[in-house]
Amino acid sequence: MYDYLIVGAGLFGAVFAYEASKRGKTCLVIDKRDHIGGNVYTEEVEGINVHRYGAHIFHTNNKKIWDYVNQFATFNRYTNAPIANYKGELYNLPFNMNTFYTLWGVTSPQEAQQKIKEQREAAGISKPTNLEEQAISLVGTDIYQKLIKGYTEKQWGRAAKDLPAFIIKRLPVRFTFDNNYFNDRYQGIPIGGYTAMVEKMLEGVDVTLNVDFFEDKEKWSNLANKIVFTGMIDQYYDYQHGVLAYRSLQFDTTVLDDVANYQGNAVVNYTDRETPYTRIIEHKHFEFGTQDKTVITKEYPSEWHPGDEPYYPVNDKRNEAIYQKYKQLAEQEVNVIFGGRLATYKYYDMHQVIGAALATVTRELD
Ligand code: FDA
Repeated sequence: MYDYLIVGAGLFGAVFAYEASKRGKTCLVIDKRDHIGGNVYTEEVEGINVHRYGAHIFHTNNKKIWDYVNQFATFNRYTNAPIANYKGELYNLPFNMNTFYTLWGVTSPQEAQQKIKEQREAAGISKPTNLEEQAISLVGTDIYQKLIKGYTEKQWGRAAKDLPAFIIKRLPVRFTFDNNYFNDRYQGIPIGGYTAMVEKMLEGVDVTLNVDFFEDKEKWSNLANKIVFTGMIDQYYDYQHGVLAYRSLQFDTTVLDDVANYQGNAVVNYTDRETPYTRIIEHKHFEFGTQDKTVITKEYPSEWHPGDEPYYPVNDKRNEAIYQKYKQLAEQEVNVIFGGRLATYKYYDMHQVIGAALATVTRELD
């Protein structure tokens, strides 16, 4: 009999398993996939660590979390500085003085601020009623048309005019020549890939892959005193209050045998509406790779249907109401702990999910 059955070998499950084992508890981790790591999984292709479930860049402002992950991996100096490709025109992201110079030829922060102000005023939007109006009222028409509209419409599968304004609360605009996407103090990619990092967390822990908890819920539950569940909370409760909606993604990965450097950057966003993918990731640039080949992944946003990979929760009123009902059921459980992005129906960055797992361990075991 184990102390804990942990359903899901992603970051939440792995951190919980590591910490519980450190405190003398026995754990069995199961995952329905054929690998550990959950969505941060990386696999080596042509000597390059490929991020199978989308680009993962670790960033945090929290020194404790940074020190924590550095126990399991050494991080490189990768800094996320994406490029936007709008119909062949290239712009730096996030919106900063480099972007404004390319867009308008302005060379000072004052000129850039003036340009944005003029465009906001010309649009005359006092109370934005949809995402389009909200974006224009924040950054003006040019940035919206070239860098936001198409990308957002592809991401959500709907016209920006039909999307609620609240999706964009703020848009990061910087009046410095700084292409660093994140504001956090710490950032990087684990040398050797995320899978190796999670392997270290799970060292000495029993792990069984290729098994779905729901195929024999009773058998798995009987193996441990308590369950840590990191799968979909609605599925745990047989969808009795309805199905929680997600947005999904399709990844199309290609090895380019004759190309050493395809796009000169790890992340290039395609911000027009016509190109069907939102981004191309060139994985070697996350780790300054010098191989003669390269691996690229095109990322296509897609509708989610039950059975598809759930990526982004749709946190609208309907889904929030459904989630609250499941949360109430979860709160009544004595021997089941729900954690991670799927069980709490929340978009979490990696540092947040690690923080949440550590907080759960403290509540449960300290
Ligand atoms: P995760 O989904 O990783 O793990 C859950 C595991 O449970 C999975 O392995 C699943 O197979 C398993 N499971 C589910 N149901 C099961 C069942 N019934 N039986 C057995 N196993 C089951 N964050 C960041 O900090 N920087 C970034 O750049 C990115 N980039 C990014 C890109 C994209 C496209 C997405 C969608 C997300 C990011 N993230 C990110 C977020 C990051 O992926 C996220 O924080 C973690 O993967 C969450 O870890 P969890 O353990 O919660 O879930």
